[in-house]
Amino acid sequence: MAHAVTLIPGDGIGPEVTRATVRVLEATGVAFAWETFDAVGYKGVEQHGMPLPEAVVSSIRRNGVALKGPVTTPVGKGFRSVNVSLRQQLDLFANVRPCKALPGVVTPFADVDLVIFRENTEGLYRGIEYYDDRLEVADSIARVTRRGSQRIIRFAFEYAQAHSRRAITLVHKANILKATTGMFLEEGRRLAREYPDVTFNDCIIDNMALQLVMRPHAHDCIVTTNLFGDILSDLCAGLVGGLGTVPGANVGDAAAIFEAVHGSAPDIAGQGIANPTALLQSGVMMLRYLNEDRAADRLQQAIIDSYSAGAALTRDMGGTADTETFTHNLIARLSAQHQSR
Ligand code: NAI
Ligand code: MG
Repeated sequence: MAHAVTLIPGDGIGPEVTRATVRVLEATGVAFAWETFDAVGYKGVEQHGMPLPEAVVSSIRRNGVALKGPVTTPVGKGFRSVNVSLRQQLDLFANVRPCKALPGVVTPFADVDLVIFRENTEGLYRGIEYYDDRLEVADSIARVTRRGSQRIIRFAFEYAQAHSRRAITLVHKANILKATTGMFLEEGRRLAREYPDVTFNDCIIDNMALQLVMRPHAHDCIVTTNLFGDILSDLCAGLVGGLGTVPGANVGDAAAIFEAVHGSAPDIAGQGIANPTALLQSGVMMLRYLNEDRAADRLQQAIIDSYSAGAALTRDMGGTADTETFTHNLIARLSAQHQSR
């Protein structure tokens, strides 16, 4: 039976990295029935007068799983982020971002291996904002709920236990934002008692930013609120060689969307040079979600082998290959693996 998966290529480099990822995923031998939606974001506005047509959301609800390229969000004005809308409408409360360097990639530290769990539906990032024209004052509301805090922190502990991770650091600003991130910390301390085999500690966000660029090995799993998680995940991507390789999953109780941490990269869009690795590694996470562990292992190994050999790497990784050459090379490796068994 083919897996029905909603496919959102997105814009900018989105269609380029998505095309590459679909080809590689199909080369693993797993059968997919893609439901593709091109008109999302500004293309959705152009074609249907809305950035996120209802058909996209209902397709994901039906299939329970989506693979998504980046979608551009206008800065300062214009339509609301499609990414934020999807996460909220589908209640995808856990954003999981593993940061681990691939072999041969030049990084500031060796052997960094972090997993970030970012609360994905609440906090400042929700964008509950008001502007008072008369007073010329802008307000933003960081709504944090006890239930929302509990479920992401529990998710992180369950993941840590299932993946034999050693520790969780909860990142907050509870010295200043006592009600919101204070409650988040309180829930972390309470839940930690239920998981005595996972070491728990906490750290204030600014201190964490310092520690991550000086002693990243001191940390293992990080659980934090939405905006802090957004910022720290780009920082951690930098620790393992850049945005080109870091995957992500947005997970809820009934659905999951797999997408890279990076955005639409307008500076290199349309040139055929984007690195598809981040979306490919999101594809590995998706294969596991679909219980296709064997295909996930094979694809992960093919990516690692590609990087170890240093062959056909894209420019952001110091190579000279374009997206097509990189993808072609990876598919050749997958089929060679297949034949050698
Ligand atoms: P960005 O992640 O698109 O790019 C930052 C830098 O990294 C650029 O120099 C870009 O060329 C490079 N880069 C990113 N991905 C790459 C890849 N796969 N291969 C090679 N180089 C890569 O961040 P930026 O420019 O701040 O955001 C652009 C747009 O993307 C914005 O509209 C933003 O809202 C949107 N965005 C969408 C996301 C999503 O759909 N989940 C996530 C993050 C941003
Ligand atoms: Mg981000």
